Amino acid sequence: MTGPPRWPSWPPPPTDEQRAALLGVLDSGRWGATSGTVTEEFAAAFARRCGAAHGVCTVNGTVALFLALRALGVGPGDEVVVPAYTFVATATAVVLAGAVPVAADVTAATLHLDPAAVRAVTGPRTRAVVAVHLAGAPADTDALRATGLPVVEDAAQAHGAARHGRPAGSLGRVACFSFQSGKAMTAGEGGIVVTGDRALYERVWSLHNVGRSRGGGWYDHPEAGWNMRMTEFQAALLQPQLGLLDGWIDRRARGAAVLAEALAGVPGLDPVGVPPGTTRHTWHLAMLRYDAEEFGGRSKEEFLAAMAAEGVPLDAGYGSLSRLPYVASPAPCPVAEAAERSVVWVRQPMLMAEEAAVAYIGHAARAVRRALRRRTPS
Ligand SMILES: Cc1ncc(COP(=O)(O)O)c(C=O)c1O
Repeated sequence: MTGPPRWPSWPPPPTDEQRAALLGVLDSGRWGATSGTVTEEFAAAFARRCGAAHGVCTVNGTVALFLALRALGVGPGDEVVVPAYTFVATATAVVLAGAVPVAADVTAATLHLDPAAVRAVTGPRTRAVVAVHLAGAPADTDALRATGLPVVEDAAQAHGAARHGRPAGSLGRVACFSFQSGKAMTAGEGGIVVTGDRALYERVWSLHNVGRSRGGGWYDHPEAGWNMRMTEFQAALLQPQLGLLDGWIDRRARGAAVLAEALAGVPGLDPVGVPPGTTRHTWHLAMLRYDAEEFGGRSKEEFLAAMAAEGVPLDAGYGSLSRLPYVASPAPCPVAEAAERSVVWVRQPMLMAEEAAVAYIGHAARAVRRALRRRTPS
């Protein structure tokens, strides 16, 4: 390969099926989910794919988490345990529900929620735990369920993932996905709540539809709810992606394997481990641990800038939620705080590039390592 690759964009170009579905909604004049049927059909199909009986489409993934928590009865005075290493929305959904997010540390091996840390911060006010399927690999929901707390899956990054052969979306009491622009299935924005629990589903449905009840009147609002509905346009864009998802996941898995091989000869840049029990990883991200000692003592930021100059734009990843003023941190989160300094990400579109392009990441890392080791530390 001569020169840096051109990385694929995400989302991929629209298919004829997506164009037809989108125009079908446009021409129908039924643009909202209260008049059309596309959203409900997509919700049912997506839930089936997750091994869950019910689905409710929402405006985004944060709102999906909020609705799941509210439907479980989470509110003021309650606490919800969240991993310290995740996107901030995992915690802000708890704040939106009027409760306090409590950070628990993640395991050094996988950066997924550590069940022992969850038990350490669980108290009389704890009402639920949010299991984030980070990077596309399911969290250890078996150990989290064993804490006795209701498990809410944050599967925003894990469409199509599986643990011990069981799909993400069927591993807790209720699960939430995002369809925001960067996600494995996307409509620009959007989200969904899926669950096998009929009563919980009806509560989520009501809360997202201004407090109406299924089968009730248009102006019957037995409880306070909000308009958090998805539009038919979004569902029309999403429905055809159900048929594309497996191919996309396979492509990323191949990319992740090529990346691991390409980095095998680069000391100081090691793939973060995958939780045992993962039977399908969707590779939303490939997370790498950066060891500054191997790169001439240079900071992660300097490494990222040098990689970008080689045409490989990696991502700095999350800061620890334990540092945020609206997140309670009763116990230290040293692993998440170390990850802030040492973990970098390769995002999903790069993993979907041609194999030679993915392998180029290894060449670039080797060149950057040589250059940074030669430079005198500033
Ligand atoms: C782990 C995680 N949780 C929640 C969300 C929130 O989803 P949304 O952006 O659709 O609100 C995201 C992504 O944005 C995420 O990555």
